[in-house]
Amino acid sequence: MSEIKPVGRLRLGINIDHIATVRNARGGAYPDPVRGALMAEKAGADGITAHLREDRRHISDSDIDNLMDALSVPLNFEMAATDEMQAIALRHRPHAVCIVPEKREELTTEGGLDVARDENRLTHFIAPIRDAGCRVSIFVAADKVQIDAAHKIGAAVVELHAGRYCDAHSEGRSGDSESELRRLQEMARHAHELGLEVHAGHGITYDTVQPLAAFPEVVELNIGHFLIGEAIFRGIQPAIGEMRRLMDEIRADIP
Ligand code: PXP
Repeated sequence: MSEIKPVGRLRLGINIDHIATVRNARGGAYPDPVRGALMAEKAGADGITAHLREDRRHISDSDIDNLMDALSVPLNFEMAATDEMQAIALRHRPHAVCIVPEKREELTTEGGLDVARDENRLTHFIAPIRDAGCRVSIFVAADKVQIDAAHKIGAAVVELHAGRYCDAHSEGRSGDSESELRRLQEMARHAHELGLEVHAGHGITYDTVQPLAAFPEVVELNIGHFLIGEAIFRGIQPAIGEMRRLMDEIRADIP
């Protein structure tokens, strides 16, 4: 297999959903996720991710309007594959649209999208979004069948679900975390060889970021919950700055 050189600086996308979670706990306007997004930009975020869930439990429609107006970095609009969300994406035409599975009862996005089971519908679903100029990304498990299906339906990007690796690491299951990491590495390589751009996200912390950031095929990490939590203790800009430092440190070590 060919040697893959890291392509420039690894991008860091900051997911601001949980600033909105805190705001919505009191039903008012504070804290404002757009303010958080602008501070994340200043701290070195290369993009902002926001997930407009069908139940609007955190990000709201007006947050998306305001982010589109305020941001200087690209917005990665996360959404379920529904007609309502497609219409919103087409109205705003964000830089990127990441299609995720969504269940109302889940606490967070639990797994990757089952693209293989829904290939035909998803092909037609993403075509107008792609034609509107958005980069379409599919959030998938590190699974060859799903990556092949994402490629087949015409996506430009796959975001690999890093949750199993990160959970195993945080629960001290080192054998599982190593095998999940190996799987992510193999699948990042496979997706890259198909010509897909490779991102990774979900559950990433300071302790789990470097092994993922070391994969040369991965060009973007999307990180939210841990950093918004860490911002309570350090402030949002130092919290993001430390993640940026860890990513740059490991990339600098790759010959
Ligand atoms: N990427 C995707 C596709 C997601 O659904 C999420 C969670 O909303 C994230 C990244 C960020 O995950 P976390 O908040 O655990 O860092």
